Amino acid sequence: MSTSNDAQRMEKIVSLCKRRGFIFQSGEIYGGLNGAWDFGPLGVELKRNLKDYWWRVMVRERDDVVGLDGSILTHRAVLKASGHEDTFSDPMVDCRTCKARLRADQLPETNGAKQCPNCGGKDLTEPRAFNLMFRTNMGASEDESSIAYLRPETAQSIFTQFKNVLDTARKKLPFGIAQIGKAFRNEINPRNYIFRSREFEQMELEYFCAPDDGMRLLDYWLEERLRFYENIGIPRTKLHVLTVPDADRAFYSNGTYDIEYEFPFGVQELEGVAYRTDYDLTAHQNGSGKPLEYFDEETKAKFVPHVVEPSAGVDRTLLALICEAFAEETVTDEKGKSETRTVMRFHPRMAPIKVGVFPLLKNKPELVAKAREVHALLKPQMMTFYDEAGAIGRRYRRQDEAGTPFGLTIDFETLGERGDELRDTVTLRHRDSMQQERVKIADLLGILLPQVQ
Ligand code: GAP
Repeated sequence: MSTSNDAQRMEKIVSLCKRRGFIFQSGEIYGGLNGAWDFGPLGVELKRNLKDYWWRVMVRERDDVVGLDGSILTHRAVLKASGHEDTFSDPMVDCRTCKARLRADQLPETNGAKQCPNCGGKDLTEPRAFNLMFRTNMGASEDESSIAYLRPETAQSIFTQFKNVLDTARKKLPFGIAQIGKAFRNEINPRNYIFRSREFEQMELEYFCAPDDGMRLLDYWLEERLRFYENIGIPRTKLHVLTVPDADRAFYSNGTYDIEYEFPFGVQELEGVAYRTDYDLTAHQNGSGKPLEYFDEETKAKFVPHVVEPSAGVDRTLLALICEAFAEETVTDEKGKSETRTVMRFHPRMAPIKVGVFPLLKNKPELVAKAREVHALLKPQMMTFYDEAGAIGRRYRRQDEAGTPFGLTIDFETLGERGDELRDTVTLRHRDSMQQERVKIADLLGILLPQVQ
């Protein structure tokens, strides 16, 4: 249950995200496009770090997974065969009093009667299915024959390209095909900031296997995915695993877990890990008339592979990272004055900027030149930020708010003015502890790189 503290925390997070350039509303200067978001300079780095790390552990570091980048525009027949055209819908009602369109399954009830949450009216239409897919027309004509869809999930191109990937990558079961990309759903009530959007990104793996391996792999992938979240800075204590009850599971699934996170607005789904049996490949085999079977060389058996699918949302994970990182603490400055420090405690691997580089004074050319030299050394290896404006304490605070885990100050010691033994050393400041240490410029890459990768 969210409290007013949680609501306040969420407000502060939203405000920081705009103020510091993580997230902006799409089309803001025209009043905003509901359910669509633009990611600013810090947001785009955070997103990239998340996607790169997912790709690294789910594809590059494994021998049994290959990648795919499918098209967003999707053949109508694909989504007909998958069942999306007929069944990917929410039940909707209209309120005849205030004309609001509402999700029928989310209406509050008083004395057994459903009510409009906007005006309290009880004069509601019967529920009607509202398809969530964005439909478009390809080519010059706008008729039934030119209908195409923006994909509602990345998974379908993995299924339809299963045979091509199998033939070209020469993999044996079990093996997976991974994809990161945009998906689109015409959500009726986009809400909770970027949590439920109309345009979002997914990171999906379809892991194909023999029929008797499905349940084991479902549990294997759940553990792998929980470990992933821990490795990006989301502690296991904040994650909940929901075993989706039989009644709520898709009819073709033999088991589904939802991995949920304690957002300030409640415990909500980050990712689904589902054992989808052979439903998808069979549906496309039937729909296309093309065989999508696998031939097992050892057993000489031919069968349609089963699939286990860990399917995560980029935007939701990004929001979890931001919520987890956000902290306010009271600190006392050198003059004994207390102030609130806002700090984004991102795991260094996820942090948008890894290191801030600061000459102690901007009007000392030798300091500036040395700081630029240090900046040039680090820049090709990691995201850095050079800042010479304002008091050093202010510059540290600005980077605390951006979540930069390390700060480097180039001072008179660096220039050798306080003794030769300190020449070519810099102050390394740690964001979380605010501790400072003296390190050699020559050692910087060796110290920083393993922590940020
Ligand atoms: N291929 C399976 C699939 O798409 P899903 O549970 O509908 O399953 C998977 O979506 C993940 O995609 C969700 O766990 C969530 O992280 C993300 N997602 C789904 N709808 C979303 C939306 N409207 N806005 C943001 N993320 C969404």
